[in-house]
Amino acid sequence: MKYTVNYENKIKSLLKEKKYKYYIDTMGCALNENDSMKYNGILSKMGMTKTDDINNANVILFNTCSIRENAEDKLYGRLGTLKKRKLKDNELYICVVGCMTQQKHVIDKIKKSYRFVDVLLGTHSMHNFAKSLYLAMKEKQKIVEYVEDKKELVENIPIIYDEGVKASVSIIYGCNNFCSYCIVPYVRGREKSRLPDDIIKDIRYLAKSGYKEITLLGQNVNSYGNDFRKQDVEELKEYNFVKLLKEIDKIKGVEIIKFMSPHPKDFSDELIEYINENPKISRQIHLPLQSGSTSILKSMNRKYTKEEYLELVRKMKEKISDVSFSTDIIVGFPGETEEDFLETLDVVKKVNFSQIYMFIYSIRKGTVAEKMENQIDEKIKSERLERLKKLFEDTINSENEAYIGKTFNILIEGKSKNNENMYTGRTSSNKVVVFTANERDVGKIKKVKITKNNLWYLTGQIL
Ligand code: 5AD
Ligand code: SF4
Repeated sequence: MKYTVNYENKIKSLLKEKKYKYYIDTMGCALNENDSMKYNGILSKMGMTKTDDINNANVILFNTCSIRENAEDKLYGRLGTLKKRKLKDNELYICVVGCMTQQKHVIDKIKKSYRFVDVLLGTHSMHNFAKSLYLAMKEKQKIVEYVEDKKELVENIPIIYDEGVKASVSIIYGCNNFCSYCIVPYVRGREKSRLPDDIIKDIRYLAKSGYKEITLLGQNVNSYGNDFRKQDVEELKEYNFVKLLKEIDKIKGVEIIKFMSPHPKDFSDELIEYINENPKISRQIHLPLQSGSTSILKSMNRKYTKEEYLELVRKMKEKISDVSFSTDIIVGFPGETEEDFLETLDVVKKVNFSQIYMFIYSIRKGTVAEKMENQIDEKIKSERLERLKKLFEDTINSENEAYIGKTFNILIEGKSKNNENMYTGRTSSNKVVVFTANERDVGKIKKVKITKNNLWYLTGQIL
C-alpha cells in the first residue's frame, strides 16, 4: 500500500497563519529512531517546524519503547510533568506512539491516568497519524487506534533523514522468534520484509544525497525474505538477505554497509562467505548472545547452545578477515545460577567482544518468562552486571593496546561531541577514533594512525 499525503494538507489549512512547532521524543532502539524520521517527515508536511525545546512545542510526540520497565517509566514521568501545562494550553497536542501503545494494559493506563493525551497510536497505525492529529485539532477528539497486526506494509511515508553521512533503512519489520523474555513479537507483529525495489529506491536516494554509510535495520535482519516464500510471487521466491546485500553493493556512493540485528540461528554460510567477499560490509558483526549457558538459552527459547554459538564465532573468525563481534547480554534471567552466569563470562572471554550491551532482566507482561517462578533477586542481578562490566573493561583495555601504531581507513563522520576541536570516525571493527581534521574532510575516507588508548575510544592522527 502506498501512503498519500492528505490530512497533512488539511492540517495546513486548519492552522492557516499559525506557526506551529513540533517536538519528537524518541525512546529505545534504532528502529524507533527510524520511525521517528517518518513522523518528522509527516509533521513537516503539515507546515510545522521542528524544535528541540519541548516548552516551545505545540505538538509533542513520544515515540515509546517497551523493551524494559525503565523505558516505560520514562514515558510516565515525562507525561506527568506535562499535565499542568496541557490543562492551561488548548493549543498543545500530546501524542503517544510506538511499542508501549501497542499493549492494551498501557493504553488503559494512559486513558485512565493521563486523560489529557490527544492521540494514542499503536505500531501498526503510523499511516493514520496525520488523520488522528487532524481530528484531535479540529474536533477536539481524543483518538486511540490499536490494531493487532497489519497485513500489508505502507510505503512512501514521507521521511526526513538525520543530517550527516550515515543513514539507516528498515528492511524488515516484526519478529517471529518469541524469545521468552521479549515483548517485541507482541508489539511489532510478525516478520514482514519490505520489497527489494522499495529498499533499493531509498538507498539510491540516500547515496545520491551524499550518505556514505547505510545501516540495514530489522529485529531479525538475516531472516529477510523468509516471508516472501509464503507469497505467490515468482521473482521473490528465491530472494534473501544476501541477494539484497548484493543489490545494495551495486549502488554507487554507498561505501560502508552495516546491519543489525541478525539472529545467530539464521546466520547462513552463504552470508558468511559473502561478507568476506565484500569489503564494504562492516567487519563488526552484532551477534546477540543473551546468555552463555545452554540451559538458560533453552528457557530463553534462543534455539542455539553455547557450543553452537562458539562454533559460529569460530567459523566467522576463520572465514572473515578482521571480523569482530558486538553483542547483547541479559543477566539475571529467571533460574540463572552462579554456574550459568560463569558460562556467560566464559563465552565473553572466549569471543573477545568489542562491544557488549548489557541488560538486567526485566519482567515483561504477557511474555512466557513473566510466568517463570525462579525470578532472581535484584541484588544478585546488579552484582552480576558489575562483574560482567569489569571483565569487559579489562578486555577492552588490553585489546586497545594492540591498536596503537596501526593504521586504518576511516570515514570522517564529523565533529566529536566530547572532544572539542576534534573529529571522529570508526575503524572497520567499529572502534571510535578521534583526531584532528578539517571540516572539508568530513565524508571522506582517510588513513588514520592510532596513537592512544582511552578505554571507550582511541586517539589517532590522519596520515
Ligand atoms: N529484559 C532485559 N533485556 C531485554 N532485552 C530484550 N528483552 C529484555 C528484557 N525483558 C534485550 C535483549 C535484546 C536487546 C535489544 O534488549 O538483549 O537483544
Ligand atoms: Fe526479541 Fe528475540 Fe525477536 Fe530479538 S529475536 S526481537 S530478542 S524475540
